[in-house]
Amino acid sequence: MQSLRKRRLFFAMFSQPLLTDKVVVLRRFHPRDVDALYAATRESLDDLIPWMSWATPAYGRGDVTEYMRVVTETWETGRYYAFAITDARDGTMLGTASLSHIHPVYNFCNLGYWIRSSRRGNGLASRAARLAAKFAFEQLGLLRVEIVVAVENAASIKVAEKSGAHREGILRDRMTVREKVHDAVMFSFVRADFGPSTGSG
Ligand SMILES: CC(C)(COP(=O)(O)OP(=O)(O)OC[C@H]1O[C@@H](n2cnc3c(N)ncnc32)[C@H](O)[C@@H]1OP(=O)(O)O)[C@@H](O)C(=O)NCCC(=O)NCCS
Repeated sequence: MQSLRKRRLFFAMFSQPLLTDKVVVLRRFHPRDVDALYAATRESLDDLIPWMSWATPAYGRGDVTEYMRVVTETWETGRYYAFAITDARDGTMLGTASLSHIHPVYNFCNLGYWIRSSRRGNGLASRAARLAAKFAFEQLGLLRVEIVVAVENAASIKVAEKSGAHREGILRDRMTVREKVHDAVMFSFVRADFGPSTGSG
């Protein structure tokens, strides 16, 4: 596992990824993204609040600034990878995708995503999910990527299915969003889902 660790460290220090399928781009955040991310978040709060603990009616510009600071640091340390999802044609901020809970021994992680309300229903989240999962395998050397979705979150379940993730079952009381506890569907990608060459770097 030493080589995986070295690879992650190298990647965290030197690489500036630009992942794209020519419709969406996933890239690192930059402090200049604060206004665009704030606007995308504010317009989406009604859709985000039921599923994201961090999303509250009071969510403000300062929260976005703090998020930028944190994700810059966690990218450098390889603890958490947050991507801006942008429009490949004109760079519009579309939402975020993230790889979190990276297990240092068993090499799996959690994949999360959201898309701004005005751009939903165009297949963007499923595209972003595939790109982020590919990054986890090819750049971080992980073995498994999990998507955990509240059973009531029909749109996100559809996203996971459309992205090609495998449905593995229901996990009881697996997700708490603020005070509400949800059963969750566990989806996963493994390297084989992306073909035999995945993981070669
Ligand atoms: C879930 C979310 C990421 C979907 O983004 P998106 O870009 O619209 O996703 P896609 O277009 O790839 O797919 C959405 C699918 O769900 C379907 N859908 C949307 N709302 C739905 C609902 N209430 N019930 C059932 N299906 C629904 C859409 O029709 C679409 O399926 P289709 O392509 O077969 O028509 C977005 O709605 C969102 O950000 N929600 C809030 C945050 C969130 O829940 N994140 C996931 C946490 S696990």
